Amino acid sequence: MFPEIFSVAGKTVLVTGGTRGIGYMIAEGYLRAGARVYISSRKQDACDEARKALSQYGDVHAIACDVSSEQQCRALIDAIAAREPGLHVLVNNAGASWGAPFDEFPGAAFDKVLTANVKAPFTLAQLARPLLEKASTAADPARVINIGSIDGLVVPGFGNYSYSASKAAIHHLTRHLAADLAPSILVNAIAPGPFPTKMMAKALEEAGDKLAEASPVGRIGEPADIAATAVFLSSIASNFITGAVIPLDGGLATTNGIRL
Ligand SMILES: NC(=O)c1ccc[n+]([C@@H]2O[C@H](COP(=O)([O-])OP(=O)(O)OC[C@H]3O[C@@H](n4cnc5c(N)ncnc54)[C@H](OP(=O)(O)O)[C@@H]3O)[C@@H](O)[C@H]2O)c1
Repeated sequence: MFPEIFSVAGKTVLVTGGTRGIGYMIAEGYLRAGARVYISSRKQDACDEARKALSQYGDVHAIACDVSSEQQCRALIDAIAAREPGLHVLVNNAGASWGAPFDEFPGAAFDKVLTANVKAPFTLAQLARPLLEKASTAADPARVINIGSIDGLVVPGFGNYSYSASKAAIHHLTRHLAADLAPSILVNAIAPGPFPTKMMAKALEEAGDKLAEASPVGRIGEPADIAATAVFLSSIASNFITGAVIPLDGGLATTNGIRL
């Protein structure tokens, strides 16, 4: 039974925003575990570079797509449908952030961030559903994994208002989709704490040590942490889990109670 129960070998996976950061870490994890991976991001050159770098680990393809555009999401799913009989896993990882003081926070930051972080995962799940259904079996359902954030679980210490709201929204959308798409598609979210990526570079530069110290495990996230969680949520080991939001933060948010 072990380790087959955790296997994703032979599965086809789409990771949006897979060209760098957390998406790249997840894509590498799937490839090392024997899955075929499609990555996407807005920039064609970033897609080409990441595909080249990831190809040492396995069968990887890259298709440029701005997930904020419904038309480009449709083209992405159509391109995968033209090549694959089905899609086992959709990882909605691409995301946007915006930080500004409360008085200066622009309305446009809500349009941009909510479109990328909430609307796009819904649109992609909707468009990919037929392909996910094709790959799904009673013994091994298809999966949607949404990348949320601990900023959607607890109130962050900086002015990223539309981001924290979007992450709380994607957590709840995860539960709603889980209710509607089961049993053929299981839908879960990972809520990461700090990981070393471009999006987090400034915050980690300013407060990386403090964040690591504040976490009970005493460090920030590492690529294997997020890759293993995504692989677990894509394997039959997680067949009885849907609608879950898994904090992946070394206890940073989950143990952050009132300490007098
Ligand atoms: N890093 C952390 O500590 C942390 C913590 C909690 C949650 N998260 C979440 O993890 C996810 C990945 O974040 P990250 O830290 O890895 O960020 P990142 O380093 O900025 O990477 C973001 C990725 O998404 C792509 N992307 C951005 N906007 C896109 C769009 N509209 N359409 C398609 N692709 C787009 C980027 O490529 P292009 O620029 O080429 O489009 C890039 O590949 C996000 O959902 C983020 O909210 C991160």
